[in-house]
Amino acid sequence: MLISGRGSNLRAIVAQARQHPESNYRVCAVISNKPHAAGLQFARDEGIETEVIDHGMYSDRATFDRALADTIDKYSPDLVALAGFMRILSPEFVTRYRGRLINIHPSLLPAYKGLKTHERALAAKEQWHGASVHFVTPDLDGGPVILQARVAIHANDTVDTLSARVLKAEHVVYPQAIRWLAGGRVRLEASGAVALDGTILDAPQRIDME
Ligand code: GRF
Repeated sequence: MLISGRGSNLRAIVAQARQHPESNYRVCAVISNKPHAAGLQFARDEGIETEVIDHGMYSDRATFDRALADTIDKYSPDLVALAGFMRILSPEFVTRYRGRLINIHPSLLPAYKGLKTHERALAAKEQWHGASVHFVTPDLDGGPVILQARVAIHANDTVDTLSARVLKAEHVVYPQAIRWLAGGRVRLEASGAVALDGTILDAPQRIDME
């Protein structure tokens, strides 16, 4: 997994693999571009391999991305999951991992790509917000969505209350999507469509949360 900070999604993903023996994956390594990311300490405490590829040490994006890819490839992972990884990845990097590179984004994509999603959803007086697990493509936050959690916005919500509810929902859908991928149930087709159990999805799978 690739992280830059807190690592709460990492924790949820590791916890699910531990708590549910039928989960068919394990996190083989955690890589951070920030040496002091809190998620790194969690990973060490769990006995998971950790690596730091500090972007500040590389002169440009291409060199950083190559170092990152070399480090990832040491572990030969079946899946590369971004969770709060705050670097834009080059098209070369993204293409290299096509179909096995996923991310979680705190909005109901394609709505609210980019940053400050909770602020923007509240300002627009949306009724619904949420989180999306998606395949990563060179189109930033625009890759095909696998699974979404939909969260109702309450009249008295603030950025803090809404983001806390969305984060809780992230911790449900991200492990679930990884279980599907690890079980071979979800695939990114050559056409760019997502297939679940052999059927092309015309809309992302969606779970409604509190
Ligand atoms: C999450 O809100 C995720 O949607 C976004 O970055 C945040 C990461 O949180 N991409 P954490 O580091 O997993 O706690």
